[in-house]
Order: sequence, then structure tokens, then C-alpha cells
Amino acid sequence: MSEHRAPMTATQKRPPGPRGKPLVGVALELRKQGLNLFVRAARDYGDVVYLPLAFGQDRILLNHPDLIEQVLIVQHQKFHKSAMAQAATRRLLGNGLLNSEDDFWRRQRRLAQPAFQKTRVNEYAPVMIEHAAAHTAQWREGETCDIAEEMSRLTCGIAVKTLFGLDIGPEADRVGENLTRLMRHQIHRVRSPIRIPARWPTPANRRADAAFAYLDSLVYGIIEERRSRGGGGNDLLSRLIAAMDEDGTQMTPRQLRDETMTLFLAGHETTALTLSWTWYLLAQNPGAEARLHEELNRVLGGHSPRPEDLESLPYLAAVIHESLRLYPPAYIMARLSIEPFELGDYSFPAGTTIIMSQWVTHRDARYFSEPLVFRPERWLDGLITRLPAHAYFPFGGGPRRCIGQGFAMLEAALVTAELGQKFSFELTAGQTIVPEPLVTLRPRGGIRMQIHRRTAIPQAQASATS
Ligand code: HEM
Repeated sequence: MSEHRAPMTATQKRPPGPRGKPLVGVALELRKQGLNLFVRAARDYGDVVYLPLAFGQDRILLNHPDLIEQVLIVQHQKFHKSAMAQAATRRLLGNGLLNSEDDFWRRQRRLAQPAFQKTRVNEYAPVMIEHAAAHTAQWREGETCDIAEEMSRLTCGIAVKTLFGLDIGPEADRVGENLTRLMRHQIHRVRSPIRIPARWPTPANRRADAAFAYLDSLVYGIIEERRSRGGGGNDLLSRLIAAMDEDGTQMTPRQLRDETMTLFLAGHETTALTLSWTWYLLAQNPGAEARLHEELNRVLGGHSPRPEDLESLPYLAAVIHESLRLYPPAYIMARLSIEPFELGDYSFPAGTTIIMSQWVTHRDARYFSEPLVFRPERWLDGLITRLPAHAYFPFGGGPRRCIGQGFAMLEAALVTAELGQKFSFELTAGQTIVPEPLVTLRPRGGIRMQIHRRTAIPQAQASATS
């Protein structure tokens, strides 16, 4: 379905919003102001805002948790994912979970869900810890790095191992490089004002074709190899190969390929960003960093964290919640209505594109006191149970809520605990860190940080304080 809105009928009033310029609406301001445009629109016009974009591609921005809940849960059958986002990622992700709809999506979600049960996800904890330890083994006191790049390489290694069962080595590196290349290629295509057809043999398209061919042959090869030896393997791809629907059917190789690409792309970058923003926020808030270090010392005493340790590390969890609040990697979600619907005082026709922004809602003073301040403590006294459900929604909500939430939270917590015991990170001078809203919320140009080794805590002292 096209994203061009059908015109509203005379009986439907239009929500308030900026008027914008003829033809281009607020598209130019959006380019210039980015997320601030949404924040200002919410402040100036309220919970339902009409945003005119270029050439009739208008959007309705929702800024109230109850309205967001209407779209994600109560009336979710009336919506599909946004057609534009799907088109942009179709070649890469095919009909995987992020892009599929209706019965096909329901079946795929049912098949994939068991692989994401808590006990199964916890089995990946050793991989996460081993990779964190191996990745940082070469780090030297005082050296500087781009922490966003480091976290991306670390979570990439974890994703390649947990998805495909490939160990660190040239093959795993190649998978990571090709997937990252394709992701960048797609982003570049989406952002570019001139869309060169993918069939044209430009150098960029040729490189992308080679990356597609490599990844496809790798995934199909693994599927064939696992099937020929009658299953086995603890990685996500093996679990998806073994998944069987109630009627005895299994995923085809094509579906398996689409789902693994989707899991890699949906999971690796978002988790890397969570970690990067967390180190950035801790570096700027020495009080919070000290409290985290104290908790890690007391509870872990220098040992690597295990999943069962996490319930004794409430401050660590609070730090990650607060980081996801202020810098949600998925900062915006869109839906396209497939039938007319009503929201608050308004009725909208089919073909309306709704946007909901974690960035805006998570910084709303109605739900978070001093919303711009990094204060993990706010999560320690049961705030999550008092908040309206969709005032805080870093993983979305409703039936299409992130399937990898447990995986991501485990990885973020274990890596933060493992690295936080050994290192602290200091922002190098002279940088302005700007969040750049691309497909995910990335720090533009990275985050340069100086690595400091924390002095080891003697075992006896650690147990004496516990
Ligand atoms: C901090 C890390 C992550 C964040 C912030 C995040 C965020 C989200 C959000 C907001 C959605 C909902 C999108 C929508 O409804 O439009 C989503 C969906 C999804 N995520 Fe995540 N995600 C993260 C990590 C992961 C991981 C680790 C995986 C897999 C291993 C994953 C796989 C998926 C998939 C497959 C979907 C689509 C689910 C469906 O539609 O049924 N995500 N994620």
C-alpha cells in the first residue's frame, strides 16, 4: 500500500501541527532539526500532531502513552508496518519477522519464539562473556578508541557465534564485514536523494551483490550441513532449522535465510548502541559510575557475571534502563493504517502513517522528573510498575514487541558488568557527541574515549564487603 495519505473527509478534523512550506511541508526542517522537530511539535501542539511532509507524505505523531497503546495493542489489527521502512530493507531482510505481516508473520513468530525463551537465551551467556574478555584482552591503559566501533565489533562477534555457531576467526570476521557493508549500503541508498537502481553495475552495487552472494551461500551452506547431519547445534539458526509448526511444517531455506539476516541486523547494532551510550553516560556522571563500580565489586568480586548474578545487581539494571530511556537505539516506530480508525477526538482514513517516538516520550516531564538528567536511581523504587505502559517502550509493544528483548538485556548487562569491572572510560576532550537518527540512533562520528584499567579488587576485600 502507498504511504500517501488518502485525503481526510470533511467530517474529520485535522490535528494541530506546524504548517510547513508548500509541497515540502516540514521536510527541510526535519532534515535540519532532526529529533528536535518532534520534541518541539509535541511541546507546541500536544499529544496528536499533524506533520506535513514532502509531497503529501504526511505523518501523525502520537505523544501520549495511551494513544501509543491504542495503535500497538488495542487496535493493532488495523495497522501494518510502514511500507517505506519495509521497502528500504526488503532485499536484505526479505520476509523476515521485522517485515512480514498477518498470518505469515504469526506463523514465523510462533516458530521463532521458543528459541528466545529465557532459559535458552541464558545458554548464550558464556559466549557473551568469552567474547567480551577476548575482545578487550589487547586493550592497554591510556589508549584511546572509538567506543561505538569497539562495541559494534564486540556485539558483531557475539551475533555471528550465537546465530551461526561460528567462532572468532577469519570466517566470523568476514560475515560481520559483509553484513555491516550491506547495512551501510542500504542506509546510504535510503538517504541518498537519487536512488540508483540496484541492478546497475556501479562499484557500490557490485560490492553489495558480492556481499549478498557470500552471505546467501554461507547461510544456505550451514542449513544444508545441519540438515544432513540431522540437526544439532546450539546456535539460533540450528534452533530455527529444528523449529516445527503444529502441522509438522518447517521453515524453508529461504525463510531461514530471511530470519537469520533479520535477527542479525535487528539485534547487533541496537545492542552495540545501548552499550556505547551507556559508557558515554557513565563517563559524564562519575557519581553513577562510582555506584555501579561499588555494586560490581561487592557482588561479583572480580568474577565474570553469570545470568543468576543479575538479580543481585539492581543498579546495573537501572543504568541500562536509564541509558535506553535517554538514548533509545530504536528511537521511532511507524505504522500504516490498513483501515479507518479513531484515536482520541479524531478519525483517520486507511493509508494514514502514524509515528511514535521513544525519544520524545522518554523525555516527557509528565512521566519522568528532570527528564534530561541521567539518574539511574529513578528506576530503583518500582518506577516501571507506576508508569503508564507505553511511557517507556524501548522494545516497542504489543504483539510485535521485540523478540530479542531478553537476549539484548542479557548481553547489555553481562558485557557492562564484565567490562565495568576491568575498565572505565573517559571522554576525550573537544568532542560534541551528536545523536544521529538514522535507522537507529547512532553517535555521529563515533565517541572517542580513553581506556583506563581499573585496579583489581583483592578477593578477600570483595567478600568482606558483601
Ligand atoms: C537494545 C537492543 C534492542 C532494541 C532497542 C530493540 C528494539 C526493537 C523494537 C522497538 C522493535 C519493534 C519495532 C516495531 O514494532 O516497529 C523490535 C523488533 C524486533 N527485534 Fe529488537 N531490539 C533490540 C535487540 C534485538 C535483538 C538482540 C534481536 C535478536 C536477536 C532483535 C530482534 C528483533 C526482531 C526479530 C523484531 C521484529 C519482531 C516482530 O515484528 O515480530 N532485537 N526491536
